[in-house]
Amino acid sequence: MIQMNENYLKLQASYLFSDIARRVADFQQANPDKEIIRLGIGDVTRPLPPACIEAFRKGVDEMADAATFRGYGPEQGYAFLREKIAQHDFQSRGADISPEEIFVSDGAKCDTGNIQEIFSVHAKIAVPDPVYPVYVDTNVMAGRTEFAENGRYRGLVYMDSTKENAFIPEIPKEAADLIYLCFPNNPTGAAISKEELKKWVDFARDSKALILFDAAYESFVRDENLPRSVYEVQGAREVAIEFRSFSKTAGFTGTRCAFTVVPKECMVWDSKGQKHSVHQLWNRRHGTKFNGVSYPVQKAAEAVYTPAGQEQTKTLIDYYLKNAALIRQAMTDLGFDCTGGENSPYIWVDGRRDSWEFFDLLLNKAGVVCTPGAGFGKCGEGYIRISAFNDFENVEKAMGRIKEALAD
Ligand code: MLT
Repeated sequence: MIQMNENYLKLQASYLFSDIARRVADFQQANPDKEIIRLGIGDVTRPLPPACIEAFRKGVDEMADAATFRGYGPEQGYAFLREKIAQHDFQSRGADISPEEIFVSDGAKCDTGNIQEIFSVHAKIAVPDPVYPVYVDTNVMAGRTEFAENGRYRGLVYMDSTKENAFIPEIPKEAADLIYLCFPNNPTGAAISKEELKKWVDFARDSKALILFDAAYESFVRDENLPRSVYEVQGAREVAIEFRSFSKTAGFTGTRCAFTVVPKECMVWDSKGQKHSVHQLWNRRHGTKFNGVSYPVQKAAEAVYTPAGQEQTKTLIDYYLKNAALIRQAMTDLGFDCTGGENSPYIWVDGRRDSWEFFDLLLNKAGVVCTPGAGFGKCGEGYIRISAFNDFENVEKAMGRIKEALAD
């Protein structure tokens, strides 16, 4: 009899955003005339930048011509894209990253979920709380935890991000081998300074640990003093893997293109104490399980780095940041404490009540979808996350409706 991977029995019934989508669909079915404004999942609404569209089209035309047609591409990504990424996203900011250290993929969600495979099942995992659920669920699936108790899995080290520490977790007192960090943070919107980040890099170096740095929202950083990459911190090449995505930077959520940076200095040890290259392990995993992102999509991503693409993506991010500023101001005016919304597309609102109750109130009375903070972990209880990814007119309308709903 075929047996299941029983680690899946430890998981919550469904993924947070699938759960929310189901509740919203039920609400819509019961209220077919109600117009719903979605400020829940961080999904973009603006079209791809024209420079990307033009390059995308050219890429498709090349596939239509026998002389320029391409079959399988390199699993790690085409050199034309890896070179541009290394140069524009890293070397131009003083971060020493080479094209061979970049692995192009179809999403940061997949990469942050898959990376744990190359580490021991006994590796001690540290995650922030609140947390992007993918970091936790993929480690549960892999068997690194017991069942959850009071909203937390035994076997994981939770690093509380609270108002008291300005949503920047403390270095854990317990041992940790693999540390997930995300800045600007999903869901709290908090950004980290270089000084704070240096503490983590030093900790990882001292304890032979690795940092998994999710920088999917780096393009929202407008404060020049804040780091956009972990590699802006000295010593990070030896202890950090970074995840990036074109999803939020250039509106690629439906187009799919991202990349992971694995510096050649990152090491991992076997049970005999022998050192191995993380770069080689990830390369082995990637080559075995992934066949590359399509050529036209990589051409579209490359166009982000043209002068026109740079200007257009900046305009796109500015657009969402304007939404974020509006949401933050509106919620602050209503008397709520807010984090994020500056250098981040997410606004983390202290609702001063049960977060699913606040979610239901906003859905039922205002027709606005947010994300309940409790869905991101124990420390998210009492909060909601509002996403700035929507059209400005909708955001304005949503804030007006929330104001009315709360006045009742
Ligand atoms: C979110 O809403 O947290 C993100 O859209 C999730 C993701 O990027 O996978």
